[in-house]
Amino acid sequence: MSEERIAILGGSGLSRLDALEVERRKIVVTPYGEPSAPLTFGTFDDLPIVFLPRHGEAHTIPPHQVNYRANLWALHSVGVKEVVSVASVGGITCPPETLCVPDQIIDYTWGREHTYVESGVTPVSHVDFTQPYCQALRRRLLEAGRKAGVEVLDGGTYGATQGPRLETAAEVRRMKNDGCDLVGMTGMPEAALARELDLCFAHLTLTVNWAAGIDGASISMEEIRQVLENSIESVRRIIGCL
Ligand code: HPA
Repeated sequence: MSEERIAILGGSGLSRLDALEVERRKIVVTPYGEPSAPLTFGTFDDLPIVFLPRHGEAHTIPPHQVNYRANLWALHSVGVKEVVSVASVGGITCPPETLCVPDQIIDYTWGREHTYVESGVTPVSHVDFTQPYCQALRRRLLEAGRKAGVEVLDGGTYGATQGPRLETAAEVRRMKNDGCDLVGMTGMPEAALARELDLCFAHLTLTVNWAAGIDGASISMEEIRQVLENSIESVRRIIGCL
């Protein structure tokens, strides 16, 4: 069955969507292997959605081992046209507890299965990625933030790193010089694969810590957990206003 629902790709802190009224779940087999979890179809505050937790339902899949190709393919195969990707990030210019809808990406990842274009399998093609995000969906997210009464920053550059380790202070300094505002480990190749499938894709990021070296302190997992706990409700409210 083909579905024109919006997909929510959940990140750290959003492996489950409480208050999602589940209608059904679907295991999707793709030519690229298994997605991170079965797709969950349901309604969230009356909005019909498909939910997929990118790190798996028990948060066991690290960023460099997420099967991004299978995840996006699975969503596309059930007729999804729009994907909101929720991601927790380190802040280079955006402080902890800030929500942001970035407008640019720099990709520092390596060795990931990052494209559907394959010699002998698909035609050679080069998607336009000048604007890596879908502007209409970005606007919809920003509007949802206004409706939800949650401040959401408009714009910013997401730097995608390989993980799973956090960055060194020098790496973050370089990223800052490059113009990055946020650093996360899952934004690529997710966004580029979505573009190859012609999906309308946007990020909603939650800054959970200052990136390495920015405030001079080392990064505490306890701090990250606290921020996630305090702020994930704002993310849920925004999704409910989409
Ligand atoms: N770096 C990379 N990814 C992250 C961070 C960070 O500091 N915080 C949350 N995700």
